[in-house]
Amino acid sequence: MIALASDHTGVALKQEIKALLDEMGLAWEDFGTNETASCDYPVYGYRAAKAVADGRCDRAILICGTGVGIGMAAARVPGMRVCTCSDVYTATLSKRHNNSNVLTMGARVIGVDVAKMIARAWLTEPFEGGRHQRRIDMLDAISRGEEL
Ligand code: RB5
Repeated sequence: MIALASDHTGVALKQEIKALLDEMGLAWEDFGTNETASCDYPVYGYRAAKAVADGRCDRAILICGTGVGIGMAAARVPGMRVCTCSDVYTATLSKRHNNSNVLTMGARVIGVDVAKMIARAWLTEPFEGGRHQRRIDMLDAISRGEEL
């Protein structure tokens, strides 16, 4: 299950991402907003990230104007590995090496086709594991307040 969320700037792009997920046969749940009136991105970024943290969803795709604010909100939820992407290479490597579980994009930064290419790459790229898992374990240690 893919958690989706956006602020008002990302509503239209989120609809395009839903269509992509449908085409790929992937289930999604929308945590809002679906209004175009100005709203606060932390609310929606938090709700989607919390669904991932709780195990209700496997990962999340979040959209705001830049992808930055909603990603910052999601990153405050323990266990979130957030990547804000404007290109396919970064999205691909964020899965392969960082096992990112939250993808954020900026609706005011990239076009629909690029966003869909990014999302598709991110959704299909496998995590490589090995030395990369060791580094992710270090990220978790930082979250627990441990010294490296
Ligand atoms: C809204 O104007 C904008 O600040 C928001 O969508 C996002 O880009 C914040 O990071």
